[in-house]
Amino acid sequence: MKKINELIIASNNKHKIIEIKDILGEFFKNIYSLSEKNINVEIEETGKTFEENAIIKAKYISELTGLPALSDDSGLEVEALNGAPGVYSARYAGEPSNSDINNKKLLKEMQGKSNRNANFTSVIAICYPNGKIITANGKTYGKILTELQGENGFGYDPLFYSNDLKKSFGLATSEEKNAVSHRGRALQNLKEILSKRK
Ligand code: IMP
Repeated sequence: MKKINELIIASNNKHKIIEIKDILGEFFKNIYSLSEKNINVEIEETGKTFEENAIIKAKYISELTGLPALSDDSGLEVEALNGAPGVYSARYAGEPSNSDINNKKLLKEMQGKSNRNANFTSVIAICYPNGKIITANGKTYGKILTELQGENGFGYDPLFYSNDLKKSFGLATSEEKNAVSHRGRALQNLKEILSKRK
C-alpha cells in the first residue's frame, strides 16, 4: 500500500476532522485541517449534487495548497419532501445557517405526513494536485420524528430516528452514531478504495 505524505481536510468542523484523522491515519503521514495550515476561506457550494459540492471544495483547496485535499458534503433527504432539504440542508430555512430554525421548518413541512422515511447521505472526495479525483459515498436510513429527541450531535440529529440504532441520533453517543453514520460509511468505503491502490 502506498502511503502518501500529506492530506488536507477542507473543513473546520472539529467532529469531522477527528473522525477523518482516526479512520484515514494509516494512509497519510500527516493530516491537516484548514486552520492548521492557516487557511481561512469560504468556498461557495454551487453544485446541484453532494458529489459536485464535495469536488468543488476539495479541488479548490488542492489547487490552493498543492496538496491532496479531502472534502465531504452531506445532508438529509426526506422521501415525503421529494429529497429535500438535500444539498440545501445547511441553509434549509435561509442564511445564516441555523439548526434550530431548520429543525422547526422540517417539523412544519412534515406535519400530517405519514411517510416519514429519510436518509442522511455523505459524499467524500479527494482531489490530488495531478487532477486525479476519488469519491466515495455512504448513507444511513431512518425516520423523521414528530418532536426533538436528545441534544447530542448537531444539525438534524434530534429529529432523525436511526433504523440501525433504534433511537434518535440526538440520543446516541458519538461512538454509536459514527458506527452507523453516512459519513462513517463513506469513510469506510473510501478506505477500501485507497487500500486497493497500488
Ligand atoms: P455539510 O455541508 O456536510 O457540513 O452538512 C450540511 C448540513 O447537513 C449540515 O449543516 C446539517 O444540517 C446536515 N447534516 C449533515 N450531516 C449531518 C449529521 O450527521 N447530523 C445532522 N445533520 C447533518
